[in-house]
Amino acid sequence: MLHVTDHILHIGNVPATELANAYGTPLYIYDAEIIRRQIARVRQAFAALPFRPFYAMKANSALAILDLVRGAGFGCDAVSPGEIHIARQAGFTPDDIWFTCSNVSDDDLLAIGDERIVINVNSMSEIDRILVLDLPNPIALRINTDIGAGHHVDVVTAGGGVKFGIDLAEVDSARIVVEDSRRKVVGLHAHIGSGIDTIAPLIESARRLLDLSTSFPNLQWLNFGGGISVPYEPGTPEFPIDDYGAELTRIADRLLRARDLTAILEPGRYLVAESGTLLSRVTSRRISGGQFWIGVDTGFNHLVRPSKYGAYHHIINATNGSPGSLRQTFDAGQMTDEVVVAGNLCESGDVFTRTEAGQVITRKIDRTQPGDLLAFCDAGAYGFSMASLYNARLLPPEVMVDGGDVRLIRERQTYEDLVKGML
Ligand SMILES: Cc1ncc(COP(=O)(O)O)c(C=O)c1O
Repeated sequence: MLHVTDHILHIGNVPATELANAYGTPLYIYDAEIIRRQIARVRQAFAALPFRPFYAMKANSALAILDLVRGAGFGCDAVSPGEIHIARQAGFTPDDIWFTCSNVSDDDLLAIGDERIVINVNSMSEIDRILVLDLPNPIALRINTDIGAGHHVDVVTAGGGVKFGIDLAEVDSARIVVEDSRRKVVGLHAHIGSGIDTIAPLIESARRLLDLSTSFPNLQWLNFGGGISVPYEPGTPEFPIDDYGAELTRIADRLLRARDLTAILEPGRYLVAESGTLLSRVTSRRISGGQFWIGVDTGFNHLVRPSKYGAYHHIINATNGSPGSLRQTFDAGQMTDEVVVAGNLCESGDVFTRTEAGQVITRKIDRTQPGDLLAFCDAGAYGFSMASLYNARLLPPEVMVDGGDVRLIRERQTYEDLVKGML
């Protein structure tokens, strides 16, 4: 857990200064205790159901994190042959992997590599191609239940105008095509979006999937997707995961047990977001346009969510912090600075402090000077996994903290890596 002692941010029991000295900045740090806490919350909330949790590895596919999640009995949702490869390297067996398609190519389908991996198809067109390629894998259907939700329009994945899922009107045709080819639909799936902070849309979508299930005689799984949010901003309540579990149990338990089906949930963000901190070094402080600007040695190449979605990541001075600077105990009145925080890329969009609509704004923070460390909190999901090579800045290393232990789990990229494979 994060805490501030003697003005220094600690992750687990390790001071941020020690981590920066040992590994340099920018640096991704994950707190294993927080991942375990989230795993336990999922397990507990859905314990009354016949239930198998999966992890949507797109949120963070570091081997060490996959290993932790796999060790807790989770299966794995992969969305590309590359993710399948990483999942296998992390020790997931093919029986424990679902491949969720989105406009996949024949090469993608042929690269799945093992006939036990469930192919979760996104469209009739993909069903046709699986049949032409004669892939023997179990088939699941991703359904657009017409109920979408999420923290930003780009991550709403059901409803009108999205590229995901078989429309409700096409579900029967999809079933008939699969059954006519003497194959079985073993699963139905709906993932309606990401960063969802109320249970209502999740439950409504689940209801539709349950209704549809009665037309599918060979089902083994009903996969209700991921999407559970975490509180990124001070004052935001925790997602009511126990209520979600209780309500899903109320509407699904009898049907699942009567038909010997297993419920799957495949959260990504919920398991790892809060565990992650991106630690950076302050490189500059200046006044422009009547505002204080703080520059740091990272940018949207390492954490794109603020630039891409106007997403809020809490920012703490990790070397001159106060207990009231933490998200959980934030007291804006105690903060002595009000600054814009910008990165080191060659684009005006490279700013971490924004409104949801993307407008650049100031943020209250403890007094911050060049040389200080700044921590971007709750960066464990869609942080490193969405990082890019823009401006040829190196990808940061990643470390895992567990209590007082620290382990390097990914090395910093090197300049040689930048030209590797170029001819
Ligand atoms: C099919 C599927 N499942 C699960 C997830 C995980 O979503 P979240 O991280 O919001 O739980 C995603 C995210 O995009 C997804 O596309």
